[in-house]
Amino acid sequence: MDKVSGSGFESKNEYMFGKMDMQLKLIPGNSAGTVTAFYLSSKGPASDEIDFEFLGNLSGDPYILNTNVLSQGKGDREQQFFLWFDPTADFHTYSILWNRQRILFSVDGTPIREVENMESREVPFPKNRPMRVYSTLWNADDWATMGGLIKTNWSNAPFTASCRNFNADMACVWPSNLTSASSCSFISTAGDQWMIEELHTSDQENLKWVQKNYMVYDYCTDLKRFPQGLPLECNIA
Ligand SMILES: *[C@@H]1O[C@H](CO)[C@@H](O)[C@H](O)[C@H]1NC(C)=O
Repeated sequence: MDKVSGSGFESKNEYMFGKMDMQLKLIPGNSAGTVTAFYLSSKGPASDEIDFEFLGNLSGDPYILNTNVLSQGKGDREQQFFLWFDPTADFHTYSILWNRQRILFSVDGTPIREVENMESREVPFPKNRPMRVYSTLWNADDWATMGGLIKTNWSNAPFTASCRNFNADMACVWPSNLTSASSCSFISTAGDQWMIEELHTSDQENLKWVQKNYMVYDYCTDLKRFPQGLPLECNIA
């Protein structure tokens, strides 16, 4: 990214359900104001999305990993984390598991967030539209670093983040010449382990460890943001 343009790429195919990994090495040094993202998104308005967003920082200050899930354009479900390593020093693996029951965000194989399907309690969940894979780098200095206080220092441009070893094991690879969502809805749940994958006890322990020690923001505790009451899913569980 430089002052003229951000950068990014998207997959040719759309996918539905599965497991995907990307290795990322983030912008070293002063990355304040920048956002590097790896995410799934459906096309068109009111999108479904599953997002990893890395919010840059001043040299030596920690990145924040922002996660979010949108269903039909409705998001506002951020959880944010510090990482337990320097994400600019080396490549690390960021993974999304997506099946009908849950979405799982993992870092180097350690689960950091689980979003369960609570449609039975009227909480929307993305499972009806295929999504493309994206990775992008853009300027967001109006909000990304210390809530927008620290701006992008363009004398450091161009900013470079790297990705490698994208790996996807998906239930349905959406043929680009089809337009209706129906063929992806006949996916068998029996064949593939990850369609029914859930957290094992050791993973649950790791998830708790990350949430306790590295989570810096949870929308479910942000009473100021939701004066009318926390979102429904925050009061279940
Ligand atoms: C940047 O560093 C400051 C100071 O350590 C910290 O408060 C903030 O959460 C960090 N991350 C972002 C993205 O602002």
